Amino acid sequence: MLKDFKRQFPALKNEARRGKTRGISSGILPKPPSSYAPDGATEGLFSSPKARVYSAKENLKRPDFVYFDTAATCLKPQAVINAEMKFLETDYANVHRGLYGLAERATSAYESARKVTADFLGAKKDEIIFTKNATEGLNILAFGVSRQYLKKDDTVVLSQLEHHANLAPWQEVAKKYGLKLKFIPLKKDGRLDLKKAEQIIKKAKVVAVTALSNVTGYIVPLEKIARMSKKAGAMFIVDACQAVASIKLRVKKIPCDALVFSGHKVYGPSGIGVLYLSQNWQDKVAPLNFGGNMISQVSFAGSIYKNDIEKFEAGTPPISQAVALSAALKWLSKIGQKKIFNHQQESTKLLKHKLARLPFVKMASAPSSEQSGIISFAVKGAHAHDVAAYLAEQGFAVRAGWHCAEPLIREKLHLAPLVRVSFGVYNTIEEVEKFVEVLRSFPAVLHSKNTNLKPKT
Ligand SMILES: Cc1ncc(COP(=O)(O)O)c(C=O)c1O
Repeated sequence: MLKDFKRQFPALKNEARRGKTRGISSGILPKPPSSYAPDGATEGLFSSPKARVYSAKENLKRPDFVYFDTAATCLKPQAVINAEMKFLETDYANVHRGLYGLAERATSAYESARKVTADFLGAKKDEIIFTKNATEGLNILAFGVSRQYLKKDDTVVLSQLEHHANLAPWQEVAKKYGLKLKFIPLKKDGRLDLKKAEQIIKKAKVVAVTALSNVTGYIVPLEKIARMSKKAGAMFIVDACQAVASIKLRVKKIPCDALVFSGHKVYGPSGIGVLYLSQNWQDKVAPLNFGGNMISQVSFAGSIYKNDIEKFEAGTPPISQAVALSAALKWLSKIGQKKIFNHQQESTKLLKHKLARLPFVKMASAPSSEQSGIISFAVKGAHAHDVAAYLAEQGFAVRAGWHCAEPLIREKLHLAPLVRVSFGVYNTIEEVEKFVEVLRSFPAVLHSKNTNLKPKT
């Protein structure tokens, strides 16, 4: 159990102190704390009478706030917040250009964050590219290989589980460059069909799959798909967004040619992503962004680009975010992903067991042996947004909607928007018990005359 972790997460403490958590779902946005609101921001935008009523409610104490939305983003441990703040206070300057002490310290901190990230994945330092997020990493790969490596009619294989971030860029390049897109199908039992995968991958030039479904929580058998890809001579890309915080992924062991994740999914900051790109593939991927820092020689007639990871980092990179990311990765490694995984499993097992006994719930989950800390479900007769709004009123933060995996939910699972629960290190078994109790009361609330939580059409 990771009981003590709650104390390390200031957002949880502050939310508990602040009280009710109604926000976007209720149509009323809370007033931002004055400490980070720009001067004058509270005039106008947030000064409606509604907002004032809301902020009065905010002052009610709500010590029982529960965050079940870690798959959307992890809350930040104090260690990560401190690392970024300290860097900004003492060592911040732009990187790779200034010749003064401060700039050298900033460059050194940024580059050592790259080394920490490389060690975290078992990669070389020259194989780690800092991006804006995982989505940007996947765009770099899709557009980069299409421009520099793939030819018309080449086949790219994805799975039916993909997040839009690993689908839309490939759909776009398929249109633009005349590529064929194929999908590894999902079976009724919630697993990918590996027999069909073998057939489809035979002709692939690129295979790009998620390591873990952000909807069902299914853990994808990466090593098996990697072997199929290698046999076919295809580039193998892993979207590790949902897996990397709880499963130790080593790029040479999988093995994969490229892997992406976002800083905010590993208890680190938003605004930074990681793209691992093996040295063998760096010359087969064209850059996506052009400008300063990625160029070796420039004239009015044209430019020559660098030929290593720097060609993918045009402009000022996410500097303080890299420092905070490295603090997050160290923090995570110190706890150990296995421990986090086991902790999440305990909660998931209990939640699945309890949800299975609620007749008005339909789960979208994975087989137990391949289930992680994410589960989605539908409540019969109710829109997911209404369920989530009700849960928010009871102090539970969950996500509701298509989860950026609309084809999976709509076309494959034949479901409507879902409610998603996802666990982090700060959650407890008691919270799961309480959640199920609250959910149990939802049908009565839905059918009561005194509620505005009617299902949306
Ligand atoms: C599996 C998966 N891939 C990609 C992404 C995109 O991450 P980001 O929005 O940080 O770029 C997400 C985000 O939820 C995800 O769950």
